[in-house]
Amino acid sequence: MIPLAVPDLSGNESRYLQECIDTSFVSSVGPFVDRFEQMVAKSTGSTGAVATSSGTTALHLALVTVGVVPGDLVILPSLTFIASANAISHAGASPWLFDVNSESWTLDPGQLETQLALETEFIDGQLTHKSSNRRISAIMPVYTLGLSADMDRIYNIAKTYRIPIVADAAAAIGAKYRDRPIGGLNASMSVLSFNGNKTATSGSGGAIISNDESLLAHAKHLSTTARCGADYSHDQIGYNYRMSNIEAAIGCAQLERIDSLVSAKQKIDKTYREAFCTLRDIEFFPSPDWARSSNWFSGFVLGPTYSDASNFCQRLNDLNIGARPFWKPVHLQSPYVTSVIENMEVTDNLWRHIVTLPCSTGLTKEEQEIVINAVHEVSNQQ
Ligand SMILES: Cc1ncc(COP(=O)(O)O)c(C=O)c1O
Repeated sequence: MIPLAVPDLSGNESRYLQECIDTSFVSSVGPFVDRFEQMVAKSTGSTGAVATSSGTTALHLALVTVGVVPGDLVILPSLTFIASANAISHAGASPWLFDVNSESWTLDPGQLETQLALETEFIDGQLTHKSSNRRISAIMPVYTLGLSADMDRIYNIAKTYRIPIVADAAAAIGAKYRDRPIGGLNASMSVLSFNGNKTATSGSGGAIISNDESLLAHAKHLSTTARCGADYSHDQIGYNYRMSNIEAAIGCAQLERIDSLVSAKQKIDKTYREAFCTLRDIEFFPSPDWARSSNWFSGFVLGPTYSDASNFCQRLNDLNIGARPFWKPVHLQSPYVTSVIENMEVTDNLWRHIVTLPCSTGLTKEEQEIVINAVHEVSNQQ
């Protein structure tokens, strides 16, 4: 089977892991964690970073840090991995689910602007959702497939309504928005995942990036049980969310090669686009002129002459190609069906038709050729 996305661990990963064992720094204190944070900040163009045990814990921590409290609503596009919604729930809040636009598959700024005007009002200085009487305390745009949301437009809306942005940039390391890297955008905090299927991995792991030193300091404090000094004093209810030195060791080795890992992803995507431009009734993943995707995942959307993506992927799996459908949206997941849900026209029409194809950074030319031939074969049988 040619897998969907597996890490390339051919750099300094094993040497750095051995160093952790030789020095006994295997837990959340150790030189690789600090080095990893510096490398994340540098590669995303942000002032600083806080390394965490996963992208999900980073999202939870970022939400708490910007002031989300139990009972609040957090604006979220439904087309995302369920972890984005779960992080909101872990903070005791609930997602207010929005559609994406077809231009980018990211949070639709038009719908956001319209619905905020229609459905909210300021009560005692708090932005409040009128029908549920709940405070709205953050917007979480998601950088779908590694493509940033339209952050200037979303920021202008967020500024008008005085709500902070926590961007879920889980898979967007290496992405650009209007020539700016993801750490240079207008989110209060942005979150990356370094899970094993990401462009760069630390095994499991995540990071919060920000240009606000005090938010970063607060997040770091909360991630280490809010401990004050060397004795067992803690000034808040904190979390045990810090990345371990072992994870950071792998992460550092990966980030040393981040430019080549991102360009491998972008090259794979380009090759698929060239190979499939004659394929009937498919569309490629969005590529608006204001953004450059990190191309975390590559693939296409099946048009109406095909049945859904599961069927197409199954036929590819039968040919030993690790193709997969994409995220089932949050508003259709049982824990979230009773959320506040906006019109989902784009998401509903899209999600069942997305096919993702093998795109490991170590995918060879020969392997990609096999995938391309298999896709042509399956398409011709439809
Ligand atoms: C959009 C999105 N958000 C959050 C996460 C959660 O990250 P992690 O698996 O590191 O907890 C992922 C992971 O795939 C993701 O794709």
